[in-house]
Amino acid sequence: MSQTLQAVRGMNDILPVEAELWEQFEESVRDWLGAYGYRPIRMPMVEPTPLFARAIGEVTDIVEKEMYSFEDALNGESLTLRPEGTASCVRAVLQHNLLYDGPKRLWYMGPMFRHERPQKGRYRQFHQVGVEALGFSGPDIDAEQIAMCARLWDDLGLEGIRLEINSLGQSEERARHRAALLAYLEQHHEQLDADAQRRLHSNPLRILDTKNPAMQALVEAAPKLIDYLGEESIRHFEGVQQLLKDAAIPYRINPRLVRGLDYYNLTVFEWVTDQLGAQGTVCAGGRYDGLVAQLGGKPAPACGFAMGIERLLALWQDQGHRHEAPVPDAYFVHQGEAAGRFAFRVAEALRSAGFSIHLHCGGGSFKSQMKKADASGAPIALIVGDDETAANQVSVKHLRSGFDQPAEQVRVSFDELADHLGDILFPLEDDNGNL
Ligand code: HAM
Repeated sequence: MSQTLQAVRGMNDILPVEAELWEQFEESVRDWLGAYGYRPIRMPMVEPTPLFARAIGEVTDIVEKEMYSFEDALNGESLTLRPEGTASCVRAVLQHNLLYDGPKRLWYMGPMFRHERPQKGRYRQFHQVGVEALGFSGPDIDAEQIAMCARLWDDLGLEGIRLEINSLGQSEERARHRAALLAYLEQHHEQLDADAQRRLHSNPLRILDTKNPAMQALVEAAPKLIDYLGEESIRHFEGVQQLLKDAAIPYRINPRLVRGLDYYNLTVFEWVTDQLGAQGTVCAGGRYDGLVAQLGGKPAPACGFAMGIERLLALWQDQGHRHEAPVPDAYFVHQGEAAGRFAFRVAEALRSAGFSIHLHCGGGSFKSQMKKADASGAPIALIVGDDETAANQVSVKHLRSGFDQPAEQVRVSFDELADHLGDILFPLEDDNGNL
């Protein structure tokens, strides 16, 4: 026998119980985004490679080593499976001139691809909910996006996610800081690890993000960008902080928060938990005022974030939340050929009336079908055999206690069945479904 094929390493199947949880999460997310006026957008999963190189930055881990890029066999164009959504979203906004009548609040959800080393919470295909506000320049939208996240954690019952913020200022400010940082790191060249030495001249800021314990003291004492911010950048950052304080959202300023993508300026933020091991950032983002122009559009400020769905749902489950698998209103048991056809017809009619019916398929004894009915969790079994079929009736049996109905089996005519089921399952509703 040939060996069973496996999924690509770092790319996961999401099995039914899990997939139902995802759907439940997606529903909460849609309601939450709607409440803040965000509208959905769906971009392709494959984009021209230069889009990401230009948007994310040539000298970033993502572009340097994590992209799934390939050549289109027909025309030789270099294409890439999207490693994130912001670049695609801005590309789509420009391509379709969506900013022609003012700012836009947009969101998307879907798989992203990064060729990272897989571990708990880090996958090669993972999923993000991304939120982008384009055309807004004030600190209010930054703070609103942060408040949105806080509300979602609350809605989902998630605890222990802390907020870290920083300001990356503007490019001139970063240039002055970079010069000071470079001088400092060069002075301590012998203490830099190989990775830091490699990045020293290409991207010294990223050195501050090192996880190497041996370099922590060095990095701690390095010149801080926050000390190089100009008046306007400070005012913006203070504006964000004031609104966070007004909304009673606790935060910590982390001067070493630099993010792994180059398009950011001013506010950046990350939501982090200690409960997921090394991959504790569940959501991250910030302002990217230069990206629209960088991708060829008329300059427009922007701000956004994305959350990792796998990480959030892992945290949700780790914190003891459980997803309830859906149960049908009734499980339909039948014996004999005529009864099988009758059951099929009745089940369809009940579904048209709004009930969820699990029709037994695949035959089997009455006893084994009743076992399945019980295991389905349905409160009711509908049963038809030759007798019921001839009489155009269905036997209704209660499988769970707690209903305000006699426990014994009753026979109900096909015509009255929907009303009868409605009275059992929704005893407080009138015929129009109102309570
Ligand atoms: P990012 O920080 O690269 O930002 O990713 C955002 C979130 O996606 C992370 O905080 C994490 O939860 C999740 N994530 C990233 N990589 C992986 C992975 N390999 N496995 C599992 N989860 C992962 C962005 O992507 C920006 N586009 C966010 C943004 C939107 N900034 C402005 N607008």
